[in-house]
Amino acid sequence: MTQSADHALPQLISSIIIDVILAVGATILPAVVVQLLAAHTALPNVALVLLGISAALALAQWGRPVNEIVFTNTYRRGRILQLIQFGLHKVQVPYVWNSIPAYDQDRYTASAYGLYGDSTGSEAIIKNFRELLSSALTLLFLLGSLAIIKWWLPLLLLFFALISDRVQRATRSFRRQQRDHNNKLINKVNYISRAASAETGAKDIRLYNFAAEFNAHMQGATHAWAANEYRVYFRTFVQATIIAALNGLCNFAIYGSLIASVIRGAFTASGFTYAFNAVSTTTTQLTQLLTAWNALNQNSDDVDLVRNLFMVENQAIAAPNRTRTDLPTTPQPIIFQHVYFRYPDADHDTIADLNLTISAGAKMALVGANGAGKTTITNLMLGLLEPTSGTILLGDTPINTFVLHNYWQYFAPVFQDSTIAATTIAENVAMSKNVDRQRIHAALEQAGLTTDVARMEHGLDTPLTNYIADDGVELSGGQEQKLMLARALYRDAPVLIMDEPTAALDALAESKIYQEYNQMVTGKTSIFISHRLASTQFADEILFLDHGHITERGQHRDLLATGGGYAELFKIQSRYYQEDAENAD
Ligand SMILES: Nc1ncnc2c1ncn2[C@@H]1O[C@H](COP(=O)(O)OP(=O)(O)O)[C@@H](O)[C@H]1O
Ligand SMILES: [Mg+2]
Repeated sequence: MTQSADHALPQLISSIIIDVILAVGATILPAVVVQLLAAHTALPNVALVLLGISAALALAQWGRPVNEIVFTNTYRRGRILQLIQFGLHKVQVPYVWNSIPAYDQDRYTASAYGLYGDSTGSEAIIKNFRELLSSALTLLFLLGSLAIIKWWLPLLLLFFALISDRVQRATRSFRRQQRDHNNKLINKVNYISRAASAETGAKDIRLYNFAAEFNAHMQGATHAWAANEYRVYFRTFVQATIIAALNGLCNFAIYGSLIASVIRGAFTASGFTYAFNAVSTTTTQLTQLLTAWNALNQNSDDVDLVRNLFMVENQAIAAPNRTRTDLPTTPQPIIFQHVYFRYPDADHDTIADLNLTISAGAKMALVGANGAGKTTITNLMLGLLEPTSGTILLGDTPINTFVLHNYWQYFAPVFQDSTIAATTIAENVAMSKNVDRQRIHAALEQAGLTTDVARMEHGLDTPLTNYIADDGVELSGGQEQKLMLARALYRDAPVLIMDEPTAALDALAESKIYQEYNQMVTGKTSIFISHRLASTQFADEILFLDHGHITERGQHRDLLATGGGYAELFKIQSRYYQEDAENAD
């Protein structure tokens, strides 16, 4: 960034000088020629002067694109860095913000107008600053010279420019209003294009005939958008008409007066030529100055969107009470004390008054129906979500005093929704370029992936997905889940959390994981989450979660004997799975 800033200043200054030379030179040139002709200068001399001036102008004109290329390139590199930073920054904001639509909207607007647009925000701000400065310098010269010719000329031109600026301002504020409407529509269109182009949706969209539905939404949004744009164009048309009429009046007054002076003999031909050109250039430059000024204000507002968002995000990231980095290296009890949690905008608590102790080294199972709150509890434990009230302790330390980055090292989670990175199998397991191949093999073996990987041509170095590698391999749902398990086992953290780790596995693969389970979790605290009650019989203790409350806890046998919700759900499920197993033959 410093390097691009170093280059930016000389480039800025040189491009301003070029702009001023071009504008002033082109205004003076015709007058010089007329002057030479009127003074009956020898033709070769006229040609020489003309050649000199033309060459200078041509050089300046050539310098402009050259300067533009160098300047824009240097500057754009900085902007790309900003964009990447903006994208990554989101990973650091509180996880719960993912559930707030308004946050997404703000982020979209900030990135679209502050960073991404070619004619907005940080990209346009430098260009407009340059135009502002070069116009200001050019005008200093032109208005000064015009004042010498007729004192009221600069005043009239300035007056006209300010009036047209007023008219344009009204259109601009209207355009901004429309822009806010448009952003909502663009968000919708973006969502649909995203959903329609994601591989995950390709089957559903085809088979459930969703394309027509998407199309209808897309067309609705596009029509509304076009209608908004039309309103803006119409306003712009009205504005252009008013300004053209004013311009006509102004020109009539100025040129009329100049011609009158010539007729009266108060003006030489070259003086008239100069004045005529200078008035026209002044009008153009005044428009450019005001346009640049207004655009700069707008650009600054756009960049402010990003700045404000970063300010809010940084505050959220800063977490001044999170200072502890001294995490234990062995399992400690994890304790929930009167924990409540409600998602933003939700009308009821997902977790209410949860009291729970997971003792160090326990093999715990957390079961319950879909939507009971199992994943929410996991995310609370991981510090991804913060309790609305109540405390979570690791040993005797509230977890919200740990620096999150360090705190996360304490856990090896297998998430329900997995993320395969577009890199090799080994790097997917290690989540790093630093790969301990022996431990990778061990983790893959425990997760039951060894044979699958052995069958692949490049083994551990097989690239996954086609996003980056042309010959990347697409894993099946079950293979992905095993890979996620291997990732967690490789990390070898004190707490292993598995959220529905076997949901995508076949019965054989599932039972293999259960057989290896004890070995996998030796010396660790483990939390196995499932909606399938039978899968958790190996646990020391089972927690049965019902609508955010733990209603029963104990061993499988005891819970069955109690004849409560667990026993009931187990009965239904075992009947179903038995039939399932019979049908499978
Ligand atoms: N991002 C979210 N925003 C609002 N509500 C949510 C969100 N995620 C989950 N919920 C709600 O919280 C409840 C518990 O969800 P979850 O913890 O995922 O359940 P489980 O993992 O037991 O199936 C559900 O009723 C769900 O609708
Ligand atoms: Mg879940």
